[in-house]
Amino acid sequence: GAAEKGNYPHFMLKEIFEQPETVENAIRGRLDHEMASAILSGIGLSPRELLQIGHIVIAGCGSSMHAGLVGEYYFEDLAGISTSVEQAAEFRYRNPIIEPNTLVIPISQSGETADTIAAVREAAAKGAIVTALCNVVGSTIAREAGRGIYLHAGPEISVASTKAFLSQVVVLLLFALLLGRNRRLSRSRGAELVAEIEQIPDLIREVLEQALEIKKIASRYAHVDDFFFIGRGCLYPTALEGALKLKEISYIHAEGYHAAELKHGPISLLDEKHPVMALANDIPGRDKILGNIQECRARKAPVVAIATRGDRAIRDLTQDVIEIPPCSRFVAPLPTAVALQLFAYYIAAERGCEIDQPRNLAKSVTVE
Ligand code: G6P
Repeated sequence: GAAEKGNYPHFMLKEIFEQPETVENAIRGRLDHEMASAILSGIGLSPRELLQIGHIVIAGCGSSMHAGLVGEYYFEDLAGISTSVEQAAEFRYRNPIIEPNTLVIPISQSGETADTIAAVREAAAKGAIVTALCNVVGSTIAREAGRGIYLHAGPEISVASTKAFLSQVVVLLLFALLLGRNRRLSRSRGAELVAEIEQIPDLIREVLEQALEIKKIASRYAHVDDFFFIGRGCLYPTALEGALKLKEISYIHAEGYHAAELKHGPISLLDEKHPVMALANDIPGRDKILGNIQECRARKAPVVAIATRGDRAIRDLTQDVIEIPPCSRFVAPLPTAVALQLFAYYIAAERGCEIDQPRNLAKSVTVE
């Protein structure tokens, strides 16, 4: 009902603005300052069992799969554990390799997505250790996995996922920190990460404060038919998620690409009618993205850039810059995703779309 939306015109906007608190809820009680690590009791694995994990397989659909793709960077870089991300729909048909030391992490906001449930059952039948990331307490996946980490994002009403996605990424970072400290990650690096994780709610607040500025930029793009989103590193899956948000709620054709893949195809489409959203935060790879922006501009493609506050070089290339506070590469997907949510939201609002209930989409897809 209208009351639950408070002063917001849509649940999606309300949920976007809740994110400083929902991320705080995902973190609360889960940081271990003493050990420079994370505490995730729900995973139900002892330090010795954690040490035995040889491979991680993440399975999910839609935004949950995109969160998993960010998590892949975390687990490989921080914990040194090889990780693969599967579309949950493909998992059982691919005959996945599950060994006794394989950890399967199903990710699902609702815990009721049919393809992800099927992946959990297949993984369990093959003897995998299964630890689920769900938002809905007592949902099918949470129950069947038996162990897991709840997101604590509260009910998500908007069909397009926002706060659950952010909490998934935060929880994956906590999990990677724990696994990292369990193996090769130093105490000092762990302590740095703990401090960075604690800053995430404030980083999000700073992005939310720029909502009007983002709205202004969005209004200049509300009429377009196509959009490319490009990024590198952890911002590559963030680009996928940004493109998904835009196409879900505004019906604009949007594609996320790894920035380096532009030249392997999409660049042939670029012209004044094909704008590009470039995730150009000041993290490793930023100089290469700068080169990609120049390539886009040379083909007259309008560019919206997400950049770290004060990045003059990017302002020289395009007037449409959304500024993100400085942060490390592992944390960067979070404030960046919030900026992309707002961008998609304001475009869809300007186009008069049914934002909370886009046509043909369901909050939870309970059939295969
Ligand atoms: C649907 C929703 C998406 C969501 C996906 C996975 O497609 O519209 O927003 O990301 O299902 O849902 P889950 O509940 O498994 O995270």
